[in-house]
Amino acid sequence: MRTRTQVGIVGAGPAGLLLAHLLALRGIDSVQVESRSREYCEARQRAGVLEDGSVALLREAGVAGRLDRQGIEHGGIYLQFGGERRHIDFRALTGRAVTVYAQTEVVKDLIARRLADAGPGAIQFSVTGTVVDDLDTDRPVLRYTSEDGVRYEVACDAIAGCDGFRGICRPAIPPELRSATARDYPYAWLGILADVPPSTDELIYAWHPRGFALHSLRSHTVSRLYLQVSPDEDIAGWPDERIWAELSERLELPGWTLRPGPVLEKGITGMRSFVSAPMRYGRLFLAGDAAHIVPPTGAKGLNLALADVAHLAPALDSLCRGDQKLAEAYSAACLERVWRSTHFSWWMTTMLHITPGADEMERQLQLAQLRYVAASRAAATSLAENYTGYPSPSTA
Ligand code: FAD
Ligand code: PHB
Repeated sequence: MRTRTQVGIVGAGPAGLLLAHLLALRGIDSVQVESRSREYCEARQRAGVLEDGSVALLREAGVAGRLDRQGIEHGGIYLQFGGERRHIDFRALTGRAVTVYAQTEVVKDLIARRLADAGPGAIQFSVTGTVVDDLDTDRPVLRYTSEDGVRYEVACDAIAGCDGFRGICRPAIPPELRSATARDYPYAWLGILADVPPSTDELIYAWHPRGFALHSLRSHTVSRLYLQVSPDEDIAGWPDERIWAELSERLELPGWTLRPGPVLEKGITGMRSFVSAPMRYGRLFLAGDAAHIVPPTGAKGLNLALADVAHLAPALDSLCRGDQKLAEAYSAACLERVWRSTHFSWWMTTMLHITPGADEMERQLQLAQLRYVAASRAAATSLAENYTGYPSPSTA
């Protein structure tokens, strides 16, 4: 079946979903395809912290009703090391804060809004055989097979590759026309979602000789915690009691106790920095994880995905009206923020994790850096400025 749209969007993660909505606000039609089911997309546990600029962007786009009611504003984080827990006060240092609101909720809000505005077929879930083609022409095509088995060919003005790190869009760019800059880290995160009120008011990032630990949260009743483990760790070797014991040890502080509770979900995620450039090839534009990955220590992945599409929506709008200027500037405009976030995420990661085989010199350098960040207003301001985020491109 042959159809026609202005923008073909591959992927219904945060990047693709927000893009479809921002384009609709500008009167631009799109067809969006997603290989997973709606239920899977809405349940996939990932990020939890929104920068100031991401919240502003979602508000401007009119999709922050529930975020404003249920998001929890945090004015800082704790850095823990050498038996001390030191507060980094974002509000005092930068006048800005972050908001704890899970990616699952951002995704649910965006899916609900899109289906309400554009009808139940607006997002084609559970598609197979997605292909993007003719990208170096004015009429790129998106092909897919719908859940009920019909093969579609959609003629587009442009295609947005919002299909994550393992998607098909980035590999559709000829390899000689893109560069990939990558680093894999020699550790991973074991994450749990626990049905227990958080034992802390703000996130705790803990350096510990046994490995990094993070206490985060999803709400006033649900906690999210992480442990540094080896990348080849088997989750089967981590019964709940072992996870809680290890978390208690790494987060321990005199006079403070970690409240354990039922583990709702657990999993292990590898850590990688990756940037593919440029983020455009002809009429294909990459956004979010399709173009770049950061390790989660700086809480940047979701925020970068949202920032990309805030640039992409006006660029595609102009392109569809015959003006190429913003489309040509898209990749460079995004990559500047991407590299800033890539550096910050690398810096947080290497400051807080124990490298296997690290010597005493490396440990002492990490501790010296942590003490400096906690003691120096200049150093703490740098962390706070990066963590709370960079100016958001306007959606206007
Ligand atoms: P995604 O959310 O990956 O969405 C891409 C979508 O495209 C998916 O729904 C996928 O099913 C779909 N797709 C893929 N291939 C096709 C195809 N061929 N056809 C159609 N659809 C396709 N960031 C943080 O800041 N903090 C965290 O704690 C954190 N934890 C993470 C844990 C994991 C396991 C992962 C993978 C990422 C995590 N991230 C975290 C990163 C953050 O979640 C991502 O940066 C964010 O999801 C990026 O959004 P996106 O829309 O670009 O990509
Ligand atoms: C999370 O809540 O999942 C989370 C928070 C902060 C991070 C990473 C993950 O740096």
